[in-house]
Amino acid sequence: MEMDRLELLRQDCLACRECPLCRTRHNVVFGVGDPNSELMFIGEGPGENEDLQGEPFVGAAGRLLDDMLEMIDLRRSQVYIANVVKCRPPQNRDPLGEEQAACRHWLDAQREIIRPKLIVCLGRIAAMAVIRPDFRITRDHGQWEDIDGARAMAMYHPAALLRDPSKRPETFVDLRTLRAEARRVCEHLYQKKETEVIV
Ligand code: URA
Repeated sequence: MEMDRLELLRQDCLACRECPLCRTRHNVVFGVGDPNSELMFIGEGPGENEDLQGEPFVGAAGRLLDDMLEMIDLRRSQVYIANVVKCRPPQNRDPLGEEQAACRHWLDAQREIIRPKLIVCLGRIAAMAVIRPDFRITRDHGQWEDIDGARAMAMYHPAALLRDPSKRPETFVDLRTLRAEARRVCEHLYQKKETEVIV
């Protein structure tokens, strides 16, 4: 059911021409993963690899995101991954306020269909867009906040961790916080693994 609604939304989104980023994109990067997942990751916007492949987090930052998921015993296919803007900003600049505003309804609709219990914002731009405009990533990462029926937190963006490995220990702590919260509030995410252990 969510699958059908999400697929219809994706088809509409692929045809979007609501902001100037549509002129320079190769592909709309809608989102990927399990439409029934209780856990959603939200990044900033597609980079070069994502623009070329039409899938979020497939470049170096994406490989690190996969490693981060593995550290908490999750795979990409078990979560849903989307971005604040669906088209690549030229030269990977930050998406402009008006681009984010034009794109916002796609992310809101994704959240409405998927209804994740937990949302993890990757980086400052996503945290400011989704959690609150005055979010400060160095100060506020790793802290859960309640937003419109979900619990949300932000971690450093994987690209920031690639640029500055000194941020990694803080991210390990945030990942442990995420796993603990997911075990507490998500009924399905770790279910299979627990069954496997029992068997
Ligand atoms: N960075 C993001 O924020 N999103 C992607 O999809 C890739 C890199």
